[in-house]
Amino acid sequence: MGSLDNQQLLVVGGTSGIGLATAIGAQAEGAVVWAAGRSKDRVQACSASYPDIHFSQLDIHDAEGLQSLFKRIGTMNHIVAAATGSHRTMAPFMEQSDEQFRAAFNKFWGYTNLARQGIPHLSEQGSLTFVSGTPARKCNPGMSSISCTGCAVEGFTRALASELAPKRVNVVAPGIIDTGMYDHFGDQKSAMLDQMGTSFLLGRVGAAEEVATAILFLMSNPYVTGTTIDVDGGALLP
Ligand SMILES: NC(=O)c1ccc[n+]([C@@H]2O[C@H](COP(=O)([O-])OP(=O)(O)OC[C@H]3O[C@@H](n4cnc5c(N)ncnc54)[C@H](OP(=O)(O)O)[C@@H]3O)[C@@H](O)[C@H]2O)c1
Repeated sequence: MGSLDNQQLLVVGGTSGIGLATAIGAQAEGAVVWAAGRSKDRVQACSASYPDIHFSQLDIHDAEGLQSLFKRIGTMNHIVAAATGSHRTMAPFMEQSDEQFRAAFNKFWGYTNLARQGIPHLSEQGSLTFVSGTPARKCNPGMSSISCTGCAVEGFTRALASELAPKRVNVVAPGIIDTGMYDHFGDQKSAMLDQMGTSFLLGRVGAAEEVATAILFLMSNPYVTGTTIDVDGGALLP
């Protein structure tokens, strides 16, 4: 018996990194797992590697696509939003165009779209879990758009939790986690992440599975709602 036995679960952004680790972990806990992302290649590769998880090609902003997926699945027990869902520009606020600054919020609009389409299909005791990020509460120069987006996700979590109870709504705030998000560093990725890790209390960056564990806890503990769990190696402390 797993903690999520026979529960129906959808992870959007579930074809890589934190979302994929969550999908794999939930399936090991007995859930019937559905996972989605945009890239057809990723969906195919994931389907081949994890044949017991139902992968679909879908953009989190696609309301009709989500509606038809939810109709296909039926009643949901848990919905997880782990899609990056936007293009982020890391630059001081005054060096970003308005368009660049606003673009970071596409992550947030993706999450609100998933919530809007998914909530009608969520069981009475069901849960929604979002992913924000450390910059929501500890922001270095050049992170204004990411910080504001993370704050929006965390505020939305608390607002929805009070509107939807007894359905539960929570958020996990990762620090720097070794995922596909840093693939743009190419050959330098490992060295860059090692360097970044030295600034945290635990002296390293995190693994996707370490964030997934927190998401699994939020889904499986029926007395937790409206909360943020930081999984960041102590990044919020000086
Ligand atoms: N890794 C970190 O250091 C870190 C830190 C703080 C917060 N986060 C947050 O953690 C979450 C997961 O990121 P990750 O690190 O696991 O990144 P990742 O390995 O790049 O995975 C991102 C996933 O989201 C999917 N995705 C992106 N845009 C999408 C869209 N519009 N619709 C549907 N799926 C979409 C990707 O697949 P496709 O590209 O094929 O769609 C992929 O499956 C994100 O919200 C990210 O902002 C990560």
